[in-house]
Amino acid sequence: MNDPLILGLESSCDDTAAALLRGRDILASVVEGQNALHADFGGVVPEIAARAHAERLDLCVERALEQAGVALPKIDAIAVTAGPGLIGGVFSGVMLAKGLATGLGKPMIGVNHLAGHALTPRLTDGLRYPYLMLLVSGGHCQFLIVRGAADFTRLGGTIDDAPGEAFDKTARLLGLPQPGGPAVEAEARLGDERRFRFPRPLLDRPGCDLSFSGLKTALMRQRDKIVAEKNGLTRQDRADLCAGFQAAVRDTLAEKTRRAVALYLDEQPDAPALAVAGGVAANLAIRGALETVCTETDLKFTAPPLALCTDNAAMIAYAGSELLAAGAEDDMTLAARPRWPL
Ligand code: KG4
Ligand code: ZN
Repeated sequence: MNDPLILGLESSCDDTAAALLRGRDILASVVEGQNALHADFGGVVPEIAARAHAERLDLCVERALEQAGVALPKIDAIAVTAGPGLIGGVFSGVMLAKGLATGLGKPMIGVNHLAGHALTPRLTDGLRYPYLMLLVSGGHCQFLIVRGAADFTRLGGTIDDAPGEAFDKTARLLGLPQPGGPAVEAEARLGDERRFRFPRPLLDRPGCDLSFSGLKTALMRQRDKIVAEKNGLTRQDRADLCAGFQAAVRDTLAEKTRRAVALYLDEQPDAPALAVAGGVAANLAIRGALETVCTETDLKFTAPPLALCTDNAAMIAYAGSELLAAGAEDDMTLAARPRWPL
């Protein structure tokens, strides 16, 4: 029998997305970003995001159907992000899913957005449970042992900012464009990471928790000091600040990953693997450091292609497919949840 054809919907932050998936085949994946809408405000504005999702989600579905050459009645089930996220957007997705499920008489499943990220390496690489996952994005930073589609153990995470947020704030402090990650990485390549030594937060404490807000403050102080001394920043100052900052994030993530790997290996998994997901996983310095940890500890290292690392609906369709296959299904009482820990 054919795998079911699943329509995935994602609208929990600032990407509106729809995808069609059969098994592990992505037949279509449409992502409409909202960067331009929020650019003037220095961050995602919830009201603007909610409105854009409401206006665009059905168009994304139409485009996905067109791309896949599929008619709407042919879909077998609907998977929708039901949280966590900005409630207006999540609500749009859940309402559309309910409408489609009722109209078509097809099953519907609410998916945790974080589970979508966490299961992506099964979609892209067929990773076997249990694997270790480091989720690093603009909104999230956590270590998870992924045991099943609805079975996660959280080993630790950030107690304040996510690393992507720290990259974005650093870019803002140094007058670089948004999103800050790629801009800071490009500058760092020209800089000397040894000129400024920034703190490696929480390394003195046991466990896998992380903190990035102090790092940003340290960077701001250093910048102000240089500006006071020389009346401004040179290109080299900026590059050196970026290099020092990125090295601190890299070293902190690598050391905490080492600790998470040790906890995970205690369970003697069959095919030990570390997967990374989230926008920050695009950073080559950070990726390289994580790969080194995996080489040291004999773990397979997996990073899904970037388009599937960042927010998309294919990951939601995939997570939904595993949940549906396990017999889960939601009804019209499915709620949109701003908070929903794994
Ligand atoms: O996963 P994502 O697209 O969205 C969510 O946060 O949900 O991640 C976006 C974040 C942004 O903060 C961006 O600055 C960061 O990922 N990012 C990077 C790089 N590319 C994107 N951070 C560091 N280095 C990069 N090359
Ligand atoms: Zn996300």
